[in-house]
Amino acid sequence: MRKQIAAANWKMNLTYQQGEKLLDEILGAEIELANHQLAIFAVPSPYLLMTRSEVEEESNYEVAAQNCHHKKSGAFTGEVSVEMLHSMNIKYCVIGHSERREYNGETNTMLADKVNLCLENFITPIFCCGEPLSIREAGTQNEFVATQLKESLFHLPAATIKNIVIAYEPIWAIGTGKTASTEQAQEIHQYLRSVIADQYSEAVANEIPILYGGSVKANNAKEIFACPDVDGGLVGGASLVAADFIEIIKALK
Ligand code: PGA
Repeated sequence: MRKQIAAANWKMNLTYQQGEKLLDEILGAEIELANHQLAIFAVPSPYLLMTRSEVEEESNYEVAAQNCHHKKSGAFTGEVSVEMLHSMNIKYCVIGHSERREYNGETNTMLADKVNLCLENFITPIFCCGEPLSIREAGTQNEFVATQLKESLFHLPAATIKNIVIAYEPIWAIGTGKTASTEQAQEIHQYLRSVIADQYSEAVANEIPILYGGSVKANNAKEIFACPDVDGGLVGGASLVAADFIEIIKALK
């Protein structure tokens, strides 16, 4: 069975102490995860080591960085390299979140470089794609997301792309309280899987978890995750509230 993943994206929220407390509360719930289920905390860089040590004793709980630089190393003050993450034993990194594409000018080509560096350093990219409202309204969302995959991922050989996690996050649903309907989510997830199958094979496409992101909440997670091509979620706002994220983890298939 494909991995089912509940990934928390804290973004630029919470103090160190609040983050520690939140993790204690979530891990204190002692949710038993099956082998194919995984909970990931994408936390701000200064909290990576603390979070890693919080989940150290837990099985199926992991830590992700929210970003990495697209160059290996060098004079890039304030940036975090993939090699640094690897040296801290971080196993996942969110790549190409729409907020970074928008506010930091991240392009599909730059994201391809980040993906490559992650894979070279044994870090699984959680690759984000998703269309803005104008594209959804024009009805060209499929072409839009397919281009994002093609330009950032399809240079990879089949054996490598299998190690990626994809997060489909329609920008119009992020932080807006507006969720894609289960039909919209299933339709585009299935489409993304078919694009991967066309490029590689059905077998490869069937191995890649595709998470849904955009206003996933405790009260809608179960319904969204139940879609056959939705393999969990990348969760912003609701991941900052212990009781809510606990419910979201429990909603995994
Ligand atoms: P949201 O954010 O759950 O607050 O909509 C999701 C994301 O941006 O990853």
